[in-house]
Amino acid sequence: MDIHIETERLHIRALEESDLDGMFTLDSDPEVHRYLGNKPITHTDEALKYIKDIRKQYAKRGIGRWAVEIKETGEFIGWVGLRLYTDYTFNNHTNFYDIGYRLQPKFWGKGYATEASKACLNYAWNVLKLDKVYGITEMGNEASHKVLLKIGLTYLEDFYYEPEDMMLRWYAISKPK
Ligand SMILES: CC(C)(COP(=O)(O)OP(=O)(O)OC[C@H]1O[C@@H](n2cnc3c(N)ncnc32)[C@H](O)[C@@H]1OP(=O)(O)O)[C@@H](O)C(=O)NCCC(=O)NCCS
Repeated sequence: MDIHIETERLHIRALEESDLDGMFTLDSDPEVHRYLGNKPITHTDEALKYIKDIRKQYAKRGIGRWAVEIKETGEFIGWVGLRLYTDYTFNNHTNFYDIGYRLQPKFWGKGYATEASKACLNYAWNVLKLDKVYGITEMGNEASHKVLLKIGLTYLEDFYYEPEDMMLRWYAISKPK
């Protein structure tokens, strides 16, 4: 998918197989996976499968998570973006768009997730013409909770997610009038 979004400090683009090293660094880090079920990957094949799955989503659903780079240096810092869930049920919802992000720890705390995900919400309203976007975090993931609130989502409730035996938080935002 041909996507290029520039924010003040970031370049958002499609994930490519050439992002393999960056994706492996990201997803093999236990700190990154602390609130993602604590299952960091151990082999680059898993990172490659992840990239391929996302690229299949681009083709099939017209959307998927995107790569995020620092504009000035071109460094790959992680991913951000919308995912159309059609294959998993969360809090009794099956067909919905979720906003998410995952960055390498050395880039945390600089406002990058907030900056990038605001741009994704603009895309949701103005390009995809969505009416609603949802967010999900694991209970205790305060950084993610804060990002969702900062970009305007409302925290609605907690729910039990049986497949992973964990408590999750559920958020939503409607298209601004
Ligand atoms: C969630 C994540 C993307 C946030 O990225 P980031 O670029 O650091 O986010 P931002 O800098 O835009 O905002 C983070 C906010 O959380 C706050 N924060 C960070 N850790 C916190 C903590 N332990 N408790 C409370 N607040 C915290 C920051 O202070 C900041 O708020 P502020 O702007 O009011 O100071 C990053 O932590 C990450 O990649 N985590 C691992 C993957 C993950 O959990 N993804 C989300 C799954 S739902």
